[in-house]
Amino acid sequence: MHGGGRSKWKSRKTSRSSLLIFSLLTLLFLLLFFFVFYEEISTFIHPVSKTSSPLSTQSSQCLKTLGERFLFYAPHSGFSNQLSELKNAILMATILNRTLIVPPVLDHHAVALGSCPKFRVLSPNDLRLKVWDHAVELIKEGRYISMAEIIDLSSISKLVRTMDLRDFVSLWCNVALDSVCLDSSNVKSSRLDNLRQCGSLLSGLTGNVYKCVYAVDEDCRTTVWTYKSKDVDSALDAFQPDEQLRLKKKISYVRRRRDVYKNLGPGSAAHLSTVLAFGSLFTSPYRGSQLYIDIPESPRDNRIQSLLDKIEFMPFVPEITNAAKEFVQKVIKSPYLCAQLRLLDGQFKNHWKTTFSVLKLKLLGLKQKGTLPVHIFVMTDLPRSNWSGSYLEELASDESSFKLHVLNNDDEFVRRTAEKIAPASCGKGGIPDNCLRPCPHRRPDVLLYLEEAVCSCASLGFVGTAGSTIAESIELMRKNSACLEQKQIT
Ligand SMILES: *[C@@H]1O[C@H](CO)[C@@H](O)[C@H](O)[C@H]1NC(C)=O
Ligand SMILES: *[C@@H]1O[C@H](CO)[C@@H](O)[C@H](O)[C@H]1NC(C)=O
Repeated sequence: MHGGGRSKWKSRKTSRSSLLIFSLLTLLFLLLFFFVFYEEISTFIHPVSKTSSPLSTQSSQCLKTLGERFLFYAPHSGFSNQLSELKNAILMATILNRTLIVPPVLDHHAVALGSCPKFRVLSPNDLRLKVWDHAVELIKEGRYISMAEIIDLSSISKLVRTMDLRDFVSLWCNVALDSVCLDSSNVKSSRLDNLRQCGSLLSGLTGNVYKCVYAVDEDCRTTVWTYKSKDVDSALDAFQPDEQLRLKKKISYVRRRRDVYKNLGPGSAAHLSTVLAFGSLFTSPYRGSQLYIDIPESPRDNRIQSLLDKIEFMPFVPEITNAAKEFVQKVIKSPYLCAQLRLLDGQFKNHWKTTFSVLKLKLLGLKQKGTLPVHIFVMTDLPRSNWSGSYLEELASDESSFKLHVLNNDDEFVRRTAEKIAPASCGKGGIPDNCLRPCPHRRPDVLLYLEEAVCSCASLGFVGTAGSTIAESIELMRKNSACLEQKQIT
């Protein structure tokens, strides 16, 4: 049967049919060509038209912002992680001389990256889109708070330009956010469509658009970004997927060390684009290597060195640090210890014994040499109603030896701080006076930041939970004397 079929085909093959095939192919090729270059053709034909065609609208946005070049990135996970990525983004924006688009504080674990060492991470496109969608959600729900409203960026403002994501959206997406201010629950669907289109563009879902958007595809599976390092550009990194992983997961990644300035700076295709969009900027040491960014001290570049010094520790905004100091002076009123006890989240619920034993030891010492009661500021994710049966209950009931202090969301201090950061009504009737940005309707959650700031002031010491990034943040604040005034109190 096979043989017969083949011979039939052969016999029908005439010069006329091959001409037909050739014309069809040519047509297909032309169509393909047209689609691929459609964006540029449409920009060329109507550079600033406001047609409803998504592609021409997108390109006109890029013309609008010509002259200023931006850097976007997609943070993830909890606040400490988001802060470390902000620092890396500041570094990248400075090296590449781009205006940093400052993202909002994302909800705890609203966006997850995955695991770099296991080569199992969300692609940069997916990550950018998730962050974008989450930001739109925060705007719609009136819960949007910028990282710059929590972290004080004044120390780096002379070294790098920044722009709030909301301002960037107004500029770039044809969405006047002020109309959203009136009633965020009533955002017109056409505006949301516009936003969605804008998000796909920025995420790289529509591909790279020449001179407009360059979406960085390289992530921790393929790349370690360096800057002015001694390595040859594109040298292999020390950490590669091992043979086992390669076989089991059919992983074909090769990790290379690439100079960020040479690959994405002047002279590169990326440099020409208005927006350079990274995925995650998360890095951390792993097996003697860095997962994604390896830009250590840079004695050969004063500007970068001074920036590295400045971003190592970035304080909270004064609204938060001042509120924490006030709490210490008016409520605790004595020298105190801070106990940061992470007891519920993830791995931490299995380590109660270790976590409490360190605290017990510390308190034993304090009880022997200090005046009683020993004041303790407790920062924990275990709700007070669940303390029964734990060491915390023991401490709380021993009133002659210990006095515990906690903060929670209903406290006056917490409420007032939240109010200062995001005034509930920016004007009469909830309409902001200067409504360039949507007005948050809900009080932001500032408890974590306040607690960290209070812990940074604890003069009797600090006991944290091993492996917690919150503990690391507090240690860093204490190392950098984030609470100098406290010295006068003790
Ligand atoms: C950095 O960018 C700004 C604004 O786009 C420009 O004025 C300046 O010349 C650039 N600096 C360098 C060193 O390229
Ligand atoms: C905390 O207490 C509530 C009831 O008061 C209970 O439902 C919950 O399971 C407890 N959680 C933990 C972690 O013990």
